[in-house]
Amino acid sequence: MQRKGIILAGGTGTRLWPVTLGVSKQLLPIYDKPMVYYPLSVLMLAGLREIAVITTPHDQEQFRRTLGDGSQWGIRLSYITQPSPDGLAQAYLLAEEFLAGAPSAMILGDNLFFGHGLPELMAAADARTVGGTVFGYHVADPERYGVVAFDAAGQAREIIEKPARPPSNHAVTGLYFLDGSAPARARRVTPSARGELEIVSLLGMYLAEGILAVERMGRGFAWLDTGTHASLLDAGNFVHTLQSRQGLQTGSPDEVAWRQGWIDDAALRERARIFARNDYGRYLSALPDSPG
Ligand code: DAU
Repeated sequence: MQRKGIILAGGTGTRLWPVTLGVSKQLLPIYDKPMVYYPLSVLMLAGLREIAVITTPHDQEQFRRTLGDGSQWGIRLSYITQPSPDGLAQAYLLAEEFLAGAPSAMILGDNLFFGHGLPELMAAADARTVGGTVFGYHVADPERYGVVAFDAAGQAREIIEKPARPPSNHAVTGLYFLDGSAPARARRVTPSARGELEIVSLLGMYLAEGILAVERMGRGFAWLDTGTHASLLDAGNFVHTLQSRQGLQTGSPDEVAWRQGWIDDAALRERARIFARNDYGRYLSALPDSPG
C-alpha cells in the first residue's frame, strides 16, 4: 500500500503571540515562502503524493488558499480539522479515514529540515514496512523535546517528552514514519498529565515491540526550530543565507514537483508566471533551461 503523508499544522501558536493571533504559525514566512512549504516539500521529496493537512477549524480557509488542492504540483491535498489541540498522536485518529490502512509519514508543520541525503534517509524509512522510523538529532537543549534514552548497547530504550533531566542529547524530530497500525494504536493512548495524546506514548508502543527504528540524523543536516521569535528569525536568515549563496531554492514544492516529474516544463512555467514579480518566480521560470 502506498504511504500517505500528514502535515500537522494546528495548535494555538501561543508562544508566538501576538504574531499568531491573526494568522496560523505554519503560514508565517520563513524568508520568502510560507512555513508550511518546507515540510510539504519534505514529504514530496519522500515521494508522497497523497497528503492531508490538519489545521484548526478557523485556519483551514487560509491553508486552502495557500496550498489549494495540490493539482498545481501533481499531488492530492486534503484538509482535516482538529477542533482542539489535544496532542500529536490525535492526528492519527483524525486521519484514520484518510489513511484507510495505509502507512504514513507525518511531519509537523513547523519543522524545517535541510541536508544532503534527506531523500535517501526517507527512502530507507519508507522501505521499512513493519513498525516505524523516527529520527534522533543532537541538540544543545534536549529538555525542550522528546528525548531518546539509549541502553548500553546504543539501542533506543525509551522516548521521554521534555524530561527535566535528559538521558541524552538526541531529540526526536517531528517526522514520523509509521505503519498502517498507527491509528489503531493511537486509540490506546491515554491523555498525559498535561491532557494531551502524546506522540511519545504512541512511539513507546512501537518501541516496546521492538519495531521502531531510531535513525540518527547526523550533524550534516539542519533541523531548525521555529518555536520562538528568535528561532523563527534565525530560520528565515538560514534560508536567506543558503539560497543567496547557492542560487538554489530550499523548500519549494514547485521545484520538487518538477524534479519528481509530477509536473512538466509548461506547468512549472505557468506557476512561475504567478510569481513573475519576484525572485521566486524568476527562479522557477529559469529552471527548465538551467544547466543544473
Ligand atoms: O519538534 C519536535 C518535537 O515536537 C518532538 O521532539 C516532541 O516529542 C513533540 O511532542 C513535539 O514537541 P513540541 O513542544 O514542539 O510540541 P507542540 O505542542 O509545540 O506541537 C508541535 C506542533 O504541532 C506545533 O506547531 C503545533 C502543532 N500541534 C500541536 C498539538 C499539541 C497541533 O497541530 N495539534 C496539537 O494537538
